[in-house]
Amino acid sequence: MIQAGNTTKAMTRWALNGALGVVVLGSAMTFMSGCRGDRTDAPPRQFFPDMDDQPKLKAQSESKFFEDKRSQRLPVEGTVAFGSTGLIPEGSGQWVEMKGKDRADMLKADETYYFGLVAGSASQDPPAYAERMPVEVNKELIMRGMERFNIYCTACHGYDGLGNDSGLVGRMMNVRPVNLLDNKYRDRSGEFGTDGYLFHIIREGLWAPDGANRMPSYKHAVDEQDAWAIVSYIRTLQRAFDAKGRRLGQGEIPGQTPGQDSEMNQAIASTDNGGEK
Ligand code: HEC
Repeated sequence: MIQAGNTTKAMTRWALNGALGVVVLGSAMTFMSGCRGDRTDAPPRQFFPDMDDQPKLKAQSESKFFEDKRSQRLPVEGTVAFGSTGLIPEGSGQWVEMKGKDRADMLKADETYYFGLVAGSASQDPPAYAERMPVEVNKELIMRGMERFNIYCTACHGYDGLGNDSGLVGRMMNVRPVNLLDNKYRDRSGEFGTDGYLFHIIREGLWAPDGANRMPSYKHAVDEQDAWAIVSYIRTLQRAFDAKGRRLGQGEIPGQTPGQDSEMNQAIASTDNGGEK
């Protein structure tokens, strides 16, 4: 009996403890969940703060730390933003090539590719423009050039490149856009007929000696590769015009319907670097 009585007592204590535990745990959980949902001006209780609170400056906010009060800091003067120059690994591969191109684009050391100039002539006045483009001319390049020309040049110079009243915008201008098929822009031995000069006009625009702009620059939209592509397309337009032997008729748009315009296709096939680079 004595033993049985002790056992009953122990069981009662155990049951009481258990019930107490449930109450404490239950109220703790209610309390914690209550903290999440209530509206209060007091700082929230954070049981797992992790990195919620740390000193930081929010974009566009005022900073009390810096004298000029800008929280968004400018890079230190002279900084050249460039990702991973030193990280280009040895060997080759697509990634290495891509990084290599980024780097070449940044340094712009190749005067012909980046400026259309004869190497070493940048300091001459006037500089010498490269007779022929430094990129391989193929159908892909010409087609890209056609697309870019039709986007950026046709409004003024017309789809056929004839200028004057050929382009919708060009025909409203006092000084009419030039005829890109004119011999002046074909003769590579002349000042204006080189690949490099055409490239230069696309990238820099045309400026009068008094500084007035006569044709806008398309540098913002046409990168070096695309500018060379446009030059190759202008050469194609010139040849297509010769193939037709006449000014293109109204609504006759060379290159707009690739594959259906046989003179255009012939011209594409015959436009190349002339066997030189
Ligand atoms: C907003 C109209 C306009 C657009 C767009 C335009 N041009 Fe011109 N372009 C002109 C005008 C106007 C002239 C002639 C300016 C003059 O003679 O004073 C000209 C002249 C030129 C010349 C002759 C430069 C010289 O020194 O004789 C070339 C080459 C040329 N444009 C190529 C292009 C190419 C390629 C594009 C497309 C990337 C283009 N233009 C887009 C208006 C334009």
